[in-house]
Amino acid sequence: MPKRLLLIPAAGVGERMKIGYPKQYLPLMGEYSMLEVTVNRLSAMELFDQVAVVVSESDAYIDKCRFDSEVSIFRCGGATRAQSVLNGLKALKAEDEDWVFVHDAARPCIDKDSVVRLIESLEDSRIDGAILALKVTDTIKWVNEDYLIEKTIDRSHCYRALTPQVFRSGQLIAALTSADTLVTDEAGAMERSRAKIKVVEGSSINIKVTYPNDIDIVRQNLKALNKKRGIYK
Ligand code: CTP
Ligand code: MG
Repeated sequence: MPKRLLLIPAAGVGERMKIGYPKQYLPLMGEYSMLEVTVNRLSAMELFDQVAVVVSESDAYIDKCRFDSEVSIFRCGGATRAQSVLNGLKALKAEDEDWVFVHDAARPCIDKDSVVRLIESLEDSRIDGAILALKVTDTIKWVNEDYLIEKTIDRSHCYRALTPQVFRSGQLIAALTSADTLVTDEAGAMERSRAKIKVVEGSSINIKVTYPNDIDIVRQNLKALNKKRGIYK
């Protein structure tokens, strides 16, 4: 049976958050940092055989984190997200056929129902992997460098990619090794090898904390989630 491994890239610097330290260490719920909330919520789901976090070699905060269950810490972050994930995959030493779920440290509002849907989608043996995503509801414009609209994209084909994204360890390592290191998600690397990747309906509260304005929204989302399911604190 292939294992289910969770890999959380947390080696970014959080430039757009502008708090002077990496956003994954921002206190989010009481004393719990964003990374602690993300990891503890996912561990509490009891769906993974191993949980691992990738941080940068110079990370000065990870040792103070309090995780509720066992977490492997890999100090092998790279210059881009794709490189951090690739280095983390190698450190995991998984079997080629193991499923690796990659989830942004910056998405603490991940809910169990979405992850269960993602896992269930893997029962279809024709697919190489799956990602959580949301159907686009706004009309989408393709805009040029002068901010002039060139065309409207048919939004019925447009989805916003979220995380987790899940692929076989061996295939994902191969895809990330040959892809541009600026690729922004795992699916982006896998698409180039014509992989069959299923889009699974995610949740609109699973936002990525990117800008300061996102923090209040995420705190509210977490309160609502915890009231509903009582998963974590
Ligand atoms: N990440 C990583 N290694 C990098 C860059 C990003 O592990 N070299 C991680 C981040 O820590 C985050 C996730 O990838 O959990 C998504 O990236 P993003 O939201 O862009 O975070 P940052 O890169 O830290 O933020 P910014 O782009 O504003 O600097
Ligand atoms: Mg970034």
